[in-house]
Amino acid sequence: MRVLITGGAGFIGSHVAEVVRGSGHSVVVLDSLLPQAHSGGEFPEWLDGFEVVRGDVRDRDVLGRVLPGVDVVCHQAAMVGHGVDPSDAPDYAGINDLGTAVVLAAMYEHGIDRLVLASSMVVYGEGRYRCEAHGTVTPGQRRVDDLDAGRFEPGCPLCGEPLEPGLVPEDAPLDPRSTYAATKLAQEHLSSAWARQTGGTVWALRYHNVYGPRMPKDTPYAGVASIFRSALERGEAPRVMEDGKQRRDFVHVSDVAMANLAAITTPGSAGTCRPVNVCSGSPHTVGEMAVALAEAMGGPVPEVVGGARPGDVRHVVADPARARDELGFQAGIAFEDGMVEFAKAPLRG
Ligand SMILES: NC(=O)c1ccc[n+]([C@@H]2O[C@H](COP(=O)([O-])OP(=O)(O)OC[C@H]3O[C@@H](n4cnc5c(N)ncnc54)[C@H](O)[C@@H]3O)[C@@H](O)[C@H]2O)c1
Ligand SMILES: [Zn+2]
Repeated sequence: MRVLITGGAGFIGSHVAEVVRGSGHSVVVLDSLLPQAHSGGEFPEWLDGFEVVRGDVRDRDVLGRVLPGVDVVCHQAAMVGHGVDPSDAPDYAGINDLGTAVVLAAMYEHGIDRLVLASSMVVYGEGRYRCEAHGTVTPGQRRVDDLDAGRFEPGCPLCGEPLEPGLVPEDAPLDPRSTYAATKLAQEHLSSAWARQTGGTVWALRYHNVYGPRMPKDTPYAGVASIFRSALERGEAPRVMEDGKQRRDFVHVSDVAMANLAAITTPGSAGTCRPVNVCSGSPHTVGEMAVALAEAMGGPVPEVVGGARPGDVRHVVADPARARDELGFQAGIAFEDGMVEFAKAPLRG
């Protein structure tokens, strides 16, 4: 098969490119080398020997050049991270949503009917919770005075009692809490509409917290693992927000690449956009992650600093069952091994 990987110069896309080519497929990478992600302005050396095209996914002409002969589009290109303030909203919407719309239109024009979309766990907002009295409930946004007072666990929206966190399945209610999250969910909606109109198939891979080599360094757009790692490199203690007990699923980038390969090679069901969690299936707290990295790097003990940013969610831990049942995907890298490797892995400048 021939696979177009948009955003293939990025952290996740470059691992996908290697794994897909390594399993015998032909790969073409399209990447605009967004300055926030590539300070050097050139394709990174790990793509040496790959067919690469520098261009923007919103550019129909460039898509017209790269799409002929392609069987599957693996759409990783995006503006990522929490962002700074509302002034970056037009860029998020432009790159992520207009970009996806242009890719889908061009796929239609070229008769390409298979898409693998990089989506995200941020579409869920808060994770899944159970109240002993009320069953599964959706907690609202946490209140600033609760957070200031160190009350981090959301209560039951009906009775206020403490909740038991559980695994988020793909059919959980969707509640994007940031500009980035809103644009990731819109990508899924646009892809659903396209699948319905064309009979095409989409796997929307909802990655959880991805970490590993080539992760971008400490920027407002980087994930928490690289922010901790960068602090430790400077000899500083990682600053852990809230009480450090917020739970996430940290999944290694090599596993995410394998999930993409599985989605690229597994025919989906015609006319549908099927969301699938891509996770390790073994949740950990942010505090545990900081401790594992600090130990692996021989750095100072993490500092728990309290506070939470608006829109931060308490626990988001994924249910891995659908990825296993429908894509045959199971993560292979254990948290402990992955963190030891990540402590020494090269990050991207
Ligand atoms: N890193 C995570 O933990 C995580 C979690 C969930 C979802 N995702 C999703 O995974 C995908 C890849 O993210 P990443 O972490 O590798 O980020 P990244 O910034 O390393 O990679 C994104 C790539 O897209 C390119 N790009 C940006 N705008 C473009 C445009 N208009 N045209 C062409 N290329 C463009 C960038 O230059 C970059 O190389 C994104 O869709 C992101 O939303 C990432
Ligand atoms: Zn209740």
